[in-house]
Amino acid sequence: MPIISKEVINDIQSKANIVDIISAYVSLEKRGKNYFGLCPFHNDVNNPSFCVNEEKKIYTCFSCHKSGNVFGFIQERENVSFIEAVKIVGDKIGYELDIQIQETSKFERHFEAVELANRFYQNNLKSADGKEARKYLTDRGINEEIIDEFEIGFAPKSNDTVTKLLLNKEFDENVLLESGLSNRSSNLYDTFRNRVTFPIHNDRGRVVGFSARIYQKIDEAKYINTRETPIFKKGEILFNYHRAQGEARKNKYLLVVEGQMDAIRIYASGIKNVVATMGTALTNDHINLLKKLNVKIILCMDNDSAGEKATIANGEIISNANIPLGILRITGAKDPDEYLLNNSVEAFEDAIKNAITFFDFKLNYLKRDKNLKKVDDVSTYINQVLRELNKSSDDILVNLTINQLSEEYGIDKNILLNKIIKVETKKVAPIKDTYKKTINKVQKYCEIIIYYMLNDIKYIKLYEQELSYLPDDLYNEIANDILAFYIKYNYISIADFITYEIEGPRYDDVLRIVDSLITNELDDQEYIVLIGKIKTMIDEQKINELKEKLKTISDINEKLKITNEIANIKKRMCE
Ligand code: CTP
Ligand code: MN
Repeated sequence: MPIISKEVINDIQSKANIVDIISAYVSLEKRGKNYFGLCPFHNDVNNPSFCVNEEKKIYTCFSCHKSGNVFGFIQERENVSFIEAVKIVGDKIGYELDIQIQETSKFERHFEAVELANRFYQNNLKSADGKEARKYLTDRGINEEIIDEFEIGFAPKSNDTVTKLLLNKEFDENVLLESGLSNRSSNLYDTFRNRVTFPIHNDRGRVVGFSARIYQKIDEAKYINTRETPIFKKGEILFNYHRAQGEARKNKYLLVVEGQMDAIRIYASGIKNVVATMGTALTNDHINLLKKLNVKIILCMDNDSAGEKATIANGEIISNANIPLGILRITGAKDPDEYLLNNSVEAFEDAIKNAITFFDFKLNYLKRDKNLKKVDDVSTYINQVLRELNKSSDDILVNLTINQLSEEYGIDKNILLNKIIKVETKKVAPIKDTYKKTINKVQKYCEIIIYYMLNDIKYIKLYEQELSYLPDDLYNEIANDILAFYIKYNYISIADFITYEIEGPRYDDVLRIVDSLITNELDDQEYIVLIGKIKTMIDEQKINELKEKLKTISDINEKLKITNEIANIKKRMCE
């Protein structure tokens, strides 16, 4: 285990801007002193409850109560050890740390196997074996540059080249099977054979699987994909997400298409904020990936009836998650890939600008196949529209639509309005709060004292002078830790103190205190009053103890001594 000194760790933390670092993962918006965004650690669908304080260099989520400093964030988000997190933050701010990080992922060998296969496929496309596949790609207008950017490859025609290669490199049979690269009959054989390979990356940019396409006219499935594996979960992956996320934030929208070929074509034409669903319906995990970007989604499914159904299904999922949504229906081509082969990028960009609302899309969809000159079709149509309006929480939209329907079909507005039964928008179940500890009044006061001490050395000094002790073991120990930190480093910082406590037994309690009090404003007067209250509590505690003692003693001199002691404490309390 590499060792990094506390001084270096603190130095990195003081130089790293926590807002900049977290912004690479979460879109943050400044509100007052804090930055808010959607929490990356729980399904934060309603309102942003993730808060970053630049000055204090900490983050906290008011819903799931994950909190910590910049290292804690990276640890949690990147699933790495503390030392690795220090290294990552160091790298991000250009701090040279001369340590080698050993990967800790349980599935590191799986990742390595898939990466190696990917490199092999890429080289193989450029070999004699890949000649026909290369021609296929060229004919589709996929040039060398696109091939390299998207790491397109070719899986050999033979039965087990990749399996053998990996076994020779000492990969375990289980790793090959579990990563979906090989299958077993009597022997292991390659999953992907004689196909063009498209590597699929996770949101962090690591290759986790493949989509592999036929390139000849043969009677086999057009695409086969890596099956579900520990590192490839289709429901959590959007093709091209790792390349698109930064671009999407920059351009304030993300294009979502069906096929990876569409995404590749769009990306290659210069619109880089595009991802593909790989032909499946959007899942909750996909929605989280989209939410994290905090941008509008432009949904552009294929120009066929399957694409229309996918637009309805995905549109419903996206708008239910309160993500701004526009619908783009291309015309004159079956999918965006074909569209861009026959039209200019500018024409496509115009179409993006002219994307319609999901509601308008649904109205158009409902009108199709109906003859709106016929009474029963009109009736069906209007009832369907009203059903849609029922789902809407947008009063203005409801009103405008009612007016329009009323005018267009000559129906009394009140009749239409009466048919709308407002349905309550579904409320998301609150997260169970097992985190909050029930604490009594004394403990609450102690926590506030600790919070103050963590914010300014003047509060530490006052504590030393006036109290130097807290009437609760846990909090007293934390206060002692703060004193120890202050004596050693001669300053105080919440973020550094968190690091200081990280391996100790009181780490979680420190995080909890910081988390529950982070929005507190500091006020000297409040602190002094609190110190006074705690003093009184300590004195009362003392008096009670002495009174109990009194009962057990018979020696008159001893009794007198204790009574005097009690009187002195009472006198002091009145001062
Ligand atoms: N798909 C799949 N298996 C299939 C067909 C499709 O996994 N047998 C997935 C692929 O990820 C594909 C997406 O669904 O990209 C959309 O399918 P389709 O529109 O048929 O593919 P295209 O992207 O148009 O592929 P191509 O242009 O290469 O025919
Ligand atoms: Mn296509």
